[in-house]
Amino acid sequence: MKRVLLIIGGGVAAYKCLDLIRRLAERGIGVRCIMTKAAQEFITPLAVGAISNERVATDLFDLEGEREIGHIRLAREADLVVVAPATADLLARMAQGHANDLATAVLLATRVPVLAAPAMNPAMWSHKATQRNVRQLEGDGVHFIGPNAGEMAEKGEAGVGRMAEVAEIVSRIEGLLAGDSDSGFGFLNVSNVRTVRPVLAGRHVLVTSGPTHEPIDPVRYIANRSSGKQGHAIAAAARRLGARVTLISGPVQIADPEGVEVRHVETAREMLEAVEAALPADIAVFAAAVADWRVAAPGRGKIKKAAGAAPPSLELVENPDILGTIAKRGAKRPALVIGFAAETQTVVENAKAKRKAKAIDWIVANDVSEGGGVFGGDRNRVHFVTAEGVEDWPDMSKAEVADALLKRAGAYLAQNRASV
Ligand code: CTP
Repeated sequence: MKRVLLIIGGGVAAYKCLDLIRRLAERGIGVRCIMTKAAQEFITPLAVGAISNERVATDLFDLEGEREIGHIRLAREADLVVVAPATADLLARMAQGHANDLATAVLLATRVPVLAAPAMNPAMWSHKATQRNVRQLEGDGVHFIGPNAGEMAEKGEAGVGRMAEVAEIVSRIEGLLAGDSDSGFGFLNVSNVRTVRPVLAGRHVLVTSGPTHEPIDPVRYIANRSSGKQGHAIAAAARRLGARVTLISGPVQIADPEGVEVRHVETAREMLEAVEAALPADIAVFAAAVADWRVAAPGRGKIKKAAGAAPPSLELVENPDILGTIAKRGAKRPALVIGFAAETQTVVENAKAKRKAKAIDWIVANDVSEGGGVFGGDRNRVHFVTAEGVEDWPDMSKAEVADALLKRAGAYLAQNRASV
């Protein structure tokens, strides 16, 4: 039986932990709980104990507890430690390595993966200090889920700060628990990640992002709705995980990610050229929405509208398939080629066929039907398609998709000992 140690922090969202414990129990996952002092202001150890069917640990200096279990054993016996709700204060203490209560002492002593589900007021979440702590913890190998955007407990407050939904947390826990056999959300043994080096250190990651603009004449062009958010998030995540990153970006309205080498291009042909020039790479992620066609003979001057004349017809020719070209390269083919498939129908089936046809290692498929909010939005629900099968990932932010994908890629390269 897999075991989760749930550390309940002191926030209004603490009550959701009762449901979380039930849902985990339904799936045959054992849950033992620690409650911080503040958590006990929101729910009682009695309620948590009744639902988890286990004694709830609350105090570092609980002698009986120390004799029976001991905080080091508590820390070691679980397969995964989950912190929910992870309050601003708890995250700060985790980031600093405090150990002055049972929750933080256990977090410091554990060698198993840690998943934090932050919940706090939006102003506290976006504060530089909290963001700094989160980055620090991510660098230390801690996994995060949420927070989500939405209404807060405080009347009239809305923004990013709501704890992720119980179903999302359960799904992430299952992924992480499966991950120690290197599936699911996959991570290297987290004790390595923490103490050795970031998963992508020494790797070169190449990313395409955004749309392309294909000129009709000097003032008009053919384009698409891609915002570049997912591709840019991938470049940023690769950087955070220690890689050297080259981002080839089509025209977008968002800022270049920090610490990443960015080449700005307009057309598909320019994008292919920039990609070729950036090789070799260990991992290539093709997140750009490349125009499939370009105008065969763009006007040198602006095409004028003549009174009474028929509208001009545009002859289109096919653009090079950048991903297809790179995936089928003999020399300098990146060890891991990852494509995206934006589909509106039979999403997974099309993605599977595309993966084979284009000789791609992994495809991240998403449904971009109208109303789904993927184009331009901040969230994504994707299907992860590999030779081994298909995983349906839960609804996540684009940053979380990026992070999960690249941690997985890092683990894959480490296993296959591939390097350029
Ligand atoms: N892609 C590319 N160069 C192109 C077209 C697509 O590199 N000229 C890449 C995209 O970045 C994406 C993947 O191919 O990773 C899939 O793109 P998509 O447009 O969904 O697929 P197509 O092969 O164009 O197929 P279709 O338009 O029929 O869906």
